[in-house]
Amino acid sequence: MATTLRINGKSHQVDLPDDVPLLWVLRDEVGLTGTKYGCGVAACGACTVHIDGEAVRSCQVALSDVWGDITTIEGLGTPDAMAAIQQAWVAQQVAQCGYCQSGQIMQAASLLAANPAPSDAEIDEAMQGNLCRCGTYPRIRAAIHAAAKQMQGA
Ligand code: FES
Ligand code: FES
Repeated sequence: MATTLRINGKSHQVDLPDDVPLLWVLRDEVGLTGTKYGCGVAACGACTVHIDGEAVRSCQVALSDVWGDITTIEGLGTPDAMAAIQQAWVAQQVAQCGYCQSGQIMQAASLLAANPAPSDAEIDEAMQGNLCRCGTYPRIRAAIHAAAKQMQGA
């Protein structure tokens, strides 16, 4: 059935079965390949995007269940106009192989929207479902603190 999705501020009409996971709609239909496939069972966080600002695992959201506006890593900022969280990621040199990082950033962005100055424990709790096989966790934590400071104008 044809459905109109609002993604990164633009409307996209897609005509796919209702049960296709949003992850594959984004990657294969709309061409937004920044969102990654890791596990397909909501266990790694690589596929994290926002729906109406809420971090969700796009591998587990069926097309027919999308309830609002979608933001992907491509919609958070651009190389020329990065979001504060993306600037912090670059400054802290967080990425290693990079595969998990768009999901990490989307999860962190939703944490900072809800909690502008998270503690280490709050960061660890919010990020615990986002796995990184390269072990970038200390730099992820540092980048979230740096972004929080920048967003507060410190
Ligand atoms: S691919 Fe969705 S959580 Fe792993
Ligand atoms: S940077 Fe390689 S898996 Fe996270």
